Amino acid sequence: MNDNITILKHPLLQHKISILRNKNTGTNEFRQLVEEIAILMGYEALSDLPTEDVEVETPIEKCMTPMLAGKKPAVVPILRAGLGMVNGILTLLPMAKVGHIGLYRDPVTHEPHEYYCKLPDPIELRTICVVDPMLATGGSAIEAIDFIKQRGGKKIKFLCIIAAPEGLDKLAKAHPDIQIYVGHLDRELNENAYICPGLGDAGDRIFGTK
Ligand code: PRP
Ligand code: URA
Repeated sequence: MNDNITILKHPLLQHKISILRNKNTGTNEFRQLVEEIAILMGYEALSDLPTEDVEVETPIEKCMTPMLAGKKPAVVPILRAGLGMVNGILTLLPMAKVGHIGLYRDPVTHEPHEYYCKLPDPIELRTICVVDPMLATGGSAIEAIDFIKQRGGKKIKFLCIIAAPEGLDKLAKAHPDIQIYVGHLDRELNENAYICPGLGDAGDRIFGTK
């Protein structure tokens, strides 16, 4: 598998993803779990953030100690479902700027359609975490990252809770320079381009719209 793809294995993460999958998990618990999963995934995905030593005075003495360096990172959810992961990443990076990319999949063709894009400026020097719980055909993620690159984004990480092999492969080929973090790699897509076993429609489950 491509070096830029990390399939996360942590038992706490897997446990929470299993609860998400359960069709009897209600909206409130689902939303809470998506946020917690984003924290666990973000902790791994952000392990290479740059640091610089700064002087701090402890109650004992002065020391040089590492703190995050560089331009504030950005978190960019793909609307709607990606919104569920934002607070988790902001728990780790409270200073982050938040952009938004609005895409929906056509129910028949499964092609993504853009309806909104607003990114923090300047985008080119920031580490950018694009978040979306589901990577199915890969169309939405590929298009979202196309937009970010067109606007100058360079250091891009994509975090998804569940991926289908088809979409993961397509995304890694379309954007070989980004880092991809997956909470669980599922079996396949069905004829409606839903992930199997998956968790159903992530947006509907987060927002209680079905
Ligand atoms: C879902 C999901 C992803 C996309 C994945 O969003 O949150 O954005 O589908 O599918 P793909 O990999 O085949 O593009 P959806 O289009 O259902 O919109 P929503 O979040 O507004 O419900
Ligand atoms: N979008 C979802 O929310 N779920 C899927 O299984 C596929 C796309």
